[in-house]
Amino acid sequence: MKERFNFFRKQFAAGKPWLISFIVIDLVCLVAANHLAAKVYLGQHYFSYTYNDYRPIVLIMVLIDIFVTVGFDTLHLVLRRNRKDEIIRSAEHVAVSLVLLAVILFTTKTGASFSRAIVYIAYFIYFILLVCSHTLWKAILQRIIRGSSSSESILLITTDRFVDEGIQELEKKKSKVTDIFLLKNMDRRELEGVQITENVDKIKARICWKYIEKIFIYGIDYQTVPDELIKACSDMGLSIEALGFEYRVMDFKTIANADPKLGALSFLEGKIDIPFSIRRVYWITETEADLHRGFHAHKLNCQLLFCPYGVIDIILDDGLGNEKKITLDEPYKGLLLMPGMWREMVWRKSGSVLCVLASEYYDADEYIRNYDEFITYKKDYIAKRDTLTIWREV
Ligand code: TYD
Repeated sequence: MKERFNFFRKQFAAGKPWLISFIVIDLVCLVAANHLAAKVYLGQHYFSYTYNDYRPIVLIMVLIDIFVTVGFDTLHLVLRRNRKDEIIRSAEHVAVSLVLLAVILFTTKTGASFSRAIVYIAYFIYFILLVCSHTLWKAILQRIIRGSSSSESILLITTDRFVDEGIQELEKKKSKVTDIFLLKNMDRRELEGVQITENVDKIKARICWKYIEKIFIYGIDYQTVPDELIKACSDMGLSIEALGFEYRVMDFKTIANADPKLGALSFLEGKIDIPFSIRRVYWITETEADLHRGFHAHKLNCQLLFCPYGVIDIILDDGLGNEKKITLDEPYKGLLLMPGMWREMVWRKSGSVLCVLASEYYDADEYIRNYDEFITYKKDYIAKRDTLTIWREV
């Protein structure tokens, strides 16, 4: 019983009650369409006798309508679909209903005495009424849901580690986060006035029913966003924008022992500390001091570099005239690198070990190894991604 109640509570939280209003509207339209069709076809005689004959057919039509709505999910993303999708979906709804009705009438001989022309006219009127009433009701609901506030509803997709920064970054853009999709909410945290969701279905429903207008990812690789969510966003005509940083120096969680003989233990946890799914891990060993490696940038690959033993300099270049040297000289220090940064690694101590966690499998085509090509790539990229906010370490 409690579970059942929770189910309804969740459905209501996700805005599903609005769906019921569309079902009611559809049924009202269907009955109205039948009245109109009969009136158009029979004119004055309509009220005198025909309607009674027609009643069972209308009842069958209503039952078919409910079946089609539920079974074929014809109200899929109804609140967010554009006019073209609305027309296509409504046409599908009417076509399926008409076919089912034809099958039932043919096999049961119900309404044999009745004119088929009225059915055709009724469904045609129904189609027009569906499109018009949905469009109107959506415009009204949009006003109700958004309220009078002019601020947009914004969804932030991020991880535990980056949630606070993501909110701050959006505040800098004068945008207030209303919903957060946390890839994993280990701390079970709560934020005042912001709905935090971890469930893909729930967040899809909220994007649809809460009229989320903009979606940003912060501190995570695009590949980490579930495909299902990307698909739903594109169905709703929403793009996911990266609100970014190019690199980040991180301190890993470390358990130091009071007894130095026991050493120190540092650790990283997927999704909490590492904002991408790890597809590859590699490390470079048996090195001499003053070894230089790297001299490339990645188009896709996000990486977390760390040096569990030794000292290694990572020289970064963003291709826009900014250079920065990060020294990995502690086993608990890491460098999170987003794609699009030229890097050179310099071994400062022989035997230093470089470990890399990467978001992509090895793919030579994803590398840019020519510096001039990198500069051109970066300029084009920045021009294209004018929505990308570059956040820089100070
Ligand atoms: P490379 O990327 O050139 O190393 P760096 O840039 O650090 O100097 O890699 C050296 C070689 O190793 C190259 O032939 C590709 C191969 N390689 C793999 O096959 N898989 C991997 O995951 C990596 C990193 C390299």
